[in-house]
Amino acid sequence: MTADLIDGKAFAADLRARIAAQVAAMKADHGVTPGLAVVLVGDDPASAVYVRSKGRAVDEAGMNGWQHRLPADASQQDLLDLIDTLNADDAVNGILVQLPLPGHMDDAAVINAIAPEKDVDGFTVLNAGRLAVGQTAMVPCTPLGCVMLLRDRLGSLAGKHALVVGRSNIVGKPMAQLLLANDATVTVAHSRTANLPALCRQADILVAAVGRARFVKGEWIKPGATVIDVGINRTDDGLVGDVDFDAARGVAGAITPVPGGVGPMTIACLLANTLTATARVNGLPDPDGLTP
Ligand code: GUN
Repeated sequence: MTADLIDGKAFAADLRARIAAQVAAMKADHGVTPGLAVVLVGDDPASAVYVRSKGRAVDEAGMNGWQHRLPADASQQDLLDLIDTLNADDAVNGILVQLPLPGHMDDAAVINAIAPEKDVDGFTVLNAGRLAVGQTAMVPCTPLGCVMLLRDRLGSLAGKHALVVGRSNIVGKPMAQLLLANDATVTVAHSRTANLPALCRQADILVAAVGRARFVKGEWIKPGATVIDVGINRTDDGLVGDVDFDAARGVAGAITPVPGGVGPMTIACLLANTLTATARVNGLPDPDGLTP
């Protein structure tokens, strides 16, 4: 068997086109233009690249975008003051503070200063809690993108056994919540899990988000399973995922490549969340096809 490729790049391009059309309609029908403010503290080169590509995507979607840069030695109070200003600005519908922050800052204190309705990353405790109890929430972009790909491939996820490998607040935990909300039977594995290969072999859906190159082996995968690889690891042979792609491709039913799988979905879902946040604050219905 050779697994089908799940083309996240193509899906994300289509999603971004649909979002741009919805933005144009919102402007025309309601005179409202969604706006996203991105905050970068310090000059980490990888973060600067991400922030630039987010800025481009916002422009291409027809949204307003602002980039705010603070020096690496800015105080946490400087950053909190900026967040307060953005919280109070009605033109700003979404606020993203690029992580990681410099070591002298308390990530949780900074993230939780963002107004929950503008928290397009879905990282505040309020949005994480809402997702966990099944209330309307802003949902983290990467897991949202993974669920969109899974539903596109599988239709209903009801009754499928989903294994999430990784328990980060940014991917693993919200991913598990979203799968549960979609009626999958969910297991979360992590670095202390016993007999991971045997668990993997039971999974109809395997989401790998551990940040270790080619960690999930081909022989761990259940034949025909759908494999979502969230990993982006730089190695001597280029970017590779958390799954041993070449081996997995001979066993799985479908798999996301790295690059070109989950990665492009994250930025598309940031745009989706910005549009959703804008609709909600203006009392409009959630845009079609952008929420879990
Ligand atoms: N750094 C790496 N990924 C992310 C993300 O999804 N959101 C933010 N804010 N920072 C990140």
